[in-house]
Amino acid sequence: MSLTAKPLTPARAKISSVGMYVPPKLLTNADLESMVETNDEWIVTRTGIRVRHIAEKGVATSDLATEAARRCLAARGVDASEIDAILVATVTPDMMFPATACLVQHKLGATHAWGFDLSAACSGFVYALQMGAKLIESGAHSKVLVIGADVMSSILDYTDRTTCILFGDGAGAVLLEPAAADEVGLVDFKHEVDGTGATSLYMAGGGSLHPATAETVAAKMHYVHQDGGSVFKVAVRKMAELSESLLKRNGLTPADVDCFVPHQANLRIIQATAERLGLPLERVVVNIGEYGNTTAATIPLALCTAMEKGMLRKGATVVLASFGGGYTVGSTLLRWEI
Ligand code: COA
Repeated sequence: MSLTAKPLTPARAKISSVGMYVPPKLLTNADLESMVETNDEWIVTRTGIRVRHIAEKGVATSDLATEAARRCLAARGVDASEIDAILVATVTPDMMFPATACLVQHKLGATHAWGFDLSAACSGFVYALQMGAKLIESGAHSKVLVIGADVMSSILDYTDRTTCILFGDGAGAVLLEPAAADEVGLVDFKHEVDGTGATSLYMAGGGSLHPATAETVAAKMHYVHQDGGSVFKVAVRKMAELSESLLKRNGLTPADVDCFVPHQANLRIIQATAERLGLPLERVVVNIGEYGNTTAATIPLALCTAMEKGMLRKGATVVLASFGGGYTVGSTLLRWEI
């Protein structure tokens, strides 16, 4: 028999719903003052962070991700059984395998969904967003859940003041569906990786190169390590550069952007990026003060914040910009359709 196939029906993907979840327990700057030699003034002026949410022991990335997904689906009135695929971006999977996406699929009761995890550190969500969009655009799927979730507290050394003050735990989810005829949705993206950055931001232990042993634990290889200064400079330069060139190839300039949604790593990185782009801060989403850097979750959390603050209206031109370990960089151009 000869091979036949349905014709593809390309449609752009749109974000049709958002949802988020952060664990209730708070870790304030005052709490950190009693753990390491630091102070609220240093943390606020150098990073903009005041408080982070931290998962209780026994609560894992799949728990946060599942709750964010539930809220996202409830907001759209979609049942979990309608989901075709689940993509989870994370650097803190519950386990090395199975993929956290499989655990979320089960907890959510998404009985018809397949899925997988994607590892691109703080750019994980925007990378997964594009993968999800391609599943929609191909005509293969009509409902894809894209989740960014991390329990960073599980890989932080709470005796290292240079890293432990920066990160928090959280999850954000978006639902992707085909855009209607009068809608635009996700328009374009630019992604870059630069593997020379692998020595500036990493967790060395637990992989195939350094499997867990008593020695790797003693050497603190199962924690985040970073060269903060180098990361800072590259983050500002690359997020601005990529966003600007993405806009340019779509005939736009930063002045056309209604809402800029940057990765939330440091308030000074966000401000410097906005300044390079010539974007007024009232068009830039900032929530790092309340959540810290939640790695793959920052951008979907920021989308929720933008919705709450009324910064996103249907038809708004939106740019998402990320930067993270790898190095990974990503920028997404879309029209808001909710
Ligand atoms: N509390 C008080 N002092 C601290 C401190 C803390 N939590 N952490 C570092 N310091 C000290 C340093 O030891 C240093 O002291 P010294 O001058 O006596 O050596 C001083 O503060 C300045 O340190 P420096 O590293 O130059 O500060 P910075 O202004 O560069 O800020 C970061 C440090 C980490 C906040 C900043 O580099 C940063 O945000 N980098 C990007 C990190 C990031 O976003 N990573 C994730 C990317 S996705």
